[in-house]
Amino acid sequence: MKKAFIFDLDGVIVDTAKYHFLAWQKLAHSLGISFSEEQNEQLKGVSRVQSLEKILEWGNKTISEERFSRLMSEKNEEYLSYIAKMDAGEILPDVPRILEHLILENQAIALGSASKNARAILEKVQLYDKFNTIVDGTNVSKAKPDPEVFLLGAKALGISPENCIVFEDSVAGIKAANIANMISIGIGNQEVLHEADYVFNDFTEIKEEFINQLVATKIV
Ligand code: BG6
Ligand code: MG
Repeated sequence: MKKAFIFDLDGVIVDTAKYHFLAWQKLAHSLGISFSEEQNEQLKGVSRVQSLEKILEWGNKTISEERFSRLMSEKNEEYLSYIAKMDAGEILPDVPRILEHLILENQAIALGSASKNARAILEKVQLYDKFNTIVDGTNVSKAKPDPEVFLLGAKALGISPENCIVFEDSVAGIKAANIANMISIGIGNQEVLHEADYVFNDFTEIKEEFINQLVATKIV
């Protein structure tokens, strides 16, 4: 049975979630808004525009459209300064092992990310060629928890949503996978990602046998 395995990028394949956090924190502090790790959790998987909207809401601030777009560019510049230093060493543990196993088993592999920087990051860590299709922030009009990003990936691969398995580190992304009728696998904290079908701390806990079971499961 051919299934599609759809990977989120930030916080699943690479630990860029920490760079997003640092960049948003710097921006929030420059506006005199405090910004905690719990708040950051709510920004994971969320688009750049919506993230800034939320931060302004938390700080009770209204700003002009012009300032809004300036702040978005500043955040991205700060983020890109971290990305510029990235290499394959920043791929999260055992991600290559799982990707290689899926390739060996002739399974379809997709990227489903909200980030507009996704393609550049995959190139930097030399994983671009492992993906059969890439759907990112430049392809979607609706942000997670809307399932658009994952449904586009499934469509591009010609695989029904029920036969797709999503790896996600964000609450919004798990919701999106569930709404899409896909199997959701949380990568991270069980308490935070409790809506997922399965949760693992990271890929080192995922065995080949588990992947094989997912592949063998017949969906009627
Ligand atoms: C998601 C991240 O993958 O992409 C969010 O989890 C980020 O934190 C969003 O805001 C948009 O990313 P970018 O790179 O287009 O600013
Ligand atoms: Mg993520």
